[in-house]
Order: sequence, then C-alpha cells, then structure tokens
Amino acid sequence: MGVCSSACKMLRRGKYFFLLLLCLSVLAWIAMFSGDFVKSLPVSSVTTQALAMRDTAHSWTSAKDNMITPTPIQACPQKSPLLQGALKLNFEPTLTLKDVEGENKRVAEGQFEPSYCTARQSVAILIPHRSRERHLLYLLHHLHPFLQRQQLHYAVYVIQQAGDVTFNRAKLLNVGYLEALKDYNWDCFIFHDVDLVPENDHNLYICDTQPKHLVVGRNSTGYKLRYKGYFGGVTAMSREQFHQVNGFSNAYWGWGGEDDDLCKRVELQKMKIVRPPAGIARYTMVFHKRDSGNEINKDSMKLLGRTPVVWKKDGLNSCSYKTLSVERPPLYVNLTVDIGKPQS
Ligand code: UDP
Ligand code: BGC
Ligand code: MN
Repeated sequence: MGVCSSACKMLRRGKYFFLLLLCLSVLAWIAMFSGDFVKSLPVSSVTTQALAMRDTAHSWTSAKDNMITPTPIQACPQKSPLLQGALKLNFEPTLTLKDVEGENKRVAEGQFEPSYCTARQSVAILIPHRSRERHLLYLLHHLHPFLQRQQLHYAVYVIQQAGDVTFNRAKLLNVGYLEALKDYNWDCFIFHDVDLVPENDHNLYICDTQPKHLVVGRNSTGYKLRYKGYFGGVTAMSREQFHQVNGFSNAYWGWGGEDDDLCKRVELQKMKIVRPPAGIARYTMVFHKRDSGNEINKDSMKLLGRTPVVWKKDGLNSCSYKTLSVERPPLYVNLTVDIGKPQS
C-alpha cells in the first residue's frame, strides 16, 4: 500500500507535469500563428498568397460594427512586409474581367480589408470614366493586388458619365467623393485617372498631413514632373482636406485646367503639395489619343483667373447631379451619373 501510494503519487505528478507541458506547447503554438508572429517574419517567408488567404472582403456594414472580436487585432505595421518595390506590369490583350475577378476573390463589391491587422487608413479610390473599358480592366488588374500589398482597407469607385455631353473629370470626382461617403466615412480619397498604372508599390495610396501628388513621372513624359504646380493624374487628399477646398470646381468641361484649379484651391488654403520620391512615384500611361467629347477646354485660363473669387461657391457645395444607377459587381462600385451640361 505504502509503496503503491508513493508510486501512484509520482505517476500522478508526472501526469500533471505532462498536462502542463501540453498546455504550454498549445499556447506557444497559438502565439506562433497569431498576427504578431506573421508580421515579424522576414518578408521572404511571408508570401503574398499566404497572407491573402487570411484576408477577407467585408460587407458594407463594416465588420467592426457587428462582430464580437475575442482579441483586438493590432494595427498594420507602418511599412507593409508585403511590398515588392518596382513591379513588372503586363497589358495582356487577351485579359478579361473574369480573369481579374478570379485573381481577386477576396474583393467584394469593390471593397477589401486585411483581416490579420487593422488598416491604418480607409481609402476610397475614385476613377472618372467613360468609354475606356480596356484601360479600366488593366488598372483593376494591377491596382487590387497593389492595394492589398499595402494592407489598406479600400474600395474602388468608377464614376461613369452618362450620355455624350462634353466630359467633366472634376465634377465626376466631386460626385465620387459625395457618393462614396454615403457608404463609409473614408479617411482618404485617391483621384485616379483610368489609364495610369503605378509602377512601384512603395508609392503609398494613403493620405498625408498635406495634399499628395502621386504622379511625379510617367513613361509618356520621360518620368519628369510636367511643371512645378502639376497636380493631375493621381492625387491623394484626406476627407477634411478635400472638404476644406470645397472639392474640385464643377465648371471645367473638356480637357485641361481642372487639376490646376484644384492646385490653386490647395494653395489658397495655405496647404502645400507633397510628393513621394521620383524613383517611386512612377506610372505607365496606357497609350491613347484625345477622346472625342473631351476636346480642349478653351475657357480654362479664364476660369483659372476666377478661382480665388468663386471657389467657395463652386465645388462640393454646388455639385448637382442625378444618380442613374449604382451597381456593385465584385471589383468596383459602378456609379452612373447624369452631371448635366455646360451652362450656355
Ligand atoms: N476620361 C475618360 N473618358 C473620356 C475622357 C477622359 O474616362 O472620354 C477620364 C479617364 O480617367 C482619363 C482622365 O479622364 O484618364 C483624363 O483624361 P486624359 O487621359 O485624356 O488626360 P491626359 O492626362 O492623358 O492628358
Ligand atoms: C492642363 C492640365 C494638364 C496638364 C498636363 C495643363 O496645361 O491645364 O489640366 O493636366 O497640362 O497635361
Ligand atoms: Mn491619359
């Protein structure tokens, strides 16, 4: 009895020790596979695909609103470990929308959010568009993986001008801003030409304390800034910055001047345009001719002269339009709008 009891005690102790060991190894295993561990791995050992598998698209009622998360997810790192730097772009003539949808299964209704960390900014990408379907396809093909590697919560909006009245890029972008805010309180807006594809994913699609111009160079201009105050192509402004300048003017019909007008508005508010380094802020513009319905705006100089006087009453607060449809296919929110026509 005495011998048995001490042997039994030892056995029992051994059992508890074994159980303790088991618990510790389970805890260590959980810790290893938590977000922190993934984030601290060297870039090479975290493949984009592996992390993409952990991503989820989320519904319009933000996941944060109705989910009880057992442990709070940490903020995404300052610098995403998924960035690749200079990219190899491809413009395959046989590429289809189905292909691009297949490549981006985690994007729903144009929207994506990383699930393994909380994105530092929620960003709406606004693309003014009419009859440039091929360019749109190439842009979606490159932009979705690009934005996911930047670990952003984002949505892509395509704002389609209905009809064949003269094109108005600036007004479409005002509409995009106003409509996107009905979905979500986006922190940051990227005003994005449909034909410009970013060449380097270190060109971050996030907003700064100042308005940011993202296209320092493009292939078609030898990768040089066109002129000192150039603020066209792709720009990033926070919700507040864009509101402060009263958005774009609605008065620029046809090609040219609306981006210079926005630059003036920014300067009038004593804000300062910032740009990423030239080696990073590089774009390929898909070649195109001037579109019919977007002829040079002969009034642009006259309009630019009036900006300091009219900016307060010509902009977001006077942008009238009719939304004809809002569709939500997998890769973008498709807004079709009637923005009227030039006065007289
Ligand atoms: N755009 C469009 N359809 C048109 C005219 C313009 O979609 O018929 C949009 C498109 O996003 C384009 C942007 O407006 O990238 C600016 O026009 P464009 O490319 O002609 O200007 P560029 O910078 O090449 O001079
Ligand atoms: C126009 C801008 C245009 C720029 C670059 C300027 O003359 O006013 O709207 O973006 O040229 O092409
Ligand atoms: Mn262009």
